[in-house]
Amino acid sequence: MKLNRNRLRIVLGLAIICLALPGVLRAQEAEGIYKKKCAVCHGKDGLGKTAKGKKVHVKTVAENMSHSVADQIKIVQEGKGNDMDGYKKEFGLDEIKGLVDYYRSLANK
Ligand code: HEC
Repeated sequence: MKLNRNRLRIVLGLAIICLALPGVLRAQEAEGIYKKKCAVCHGKDGLGKTAKGKKVHVKTVAENMSHSVADQIKIVQEGKGNDMDGYKKEFGLDEIKGLVDYYRSLANK
């Protein structure tokens, strides 16, 4: 009886880890893509103080936090004027959501 309960705990624990894993992996993937593709302009810290970022007048993430996630997803999909390319051909909606989440998380750093 006691053994069964312990086994149950292990199985439940593993199930929880398996359910949480995709989310953790997605967050890590977003960070990797951001650093490779977005940080040139937005900066690793989200402040946009890179050479390219200054040239195209990138704002800090904090300045943009009043904008909705939905609007920001659209901007990453479609791009922004001549300054930022759209990424909808390169990344699916899930990936873009992850990128916007990661972008917004930089406001707290
Ligand atoms: C060539 C420079 C450049 C690159 C590369 C770039 N951006 Fe941008 N991005 C801009 C500029 C310029 C704006 C408009 C000004 C601003 O809001 O900072 C912008 C706007 C945004 C916005 C909207 C902010 C708002 O609320 O108005 C988001 C979100 C964003 N970028 C995310 C990304 C992500 C994610 C990537 C990488 C996949 C990326 N950007 C790559 C230049 C760039």
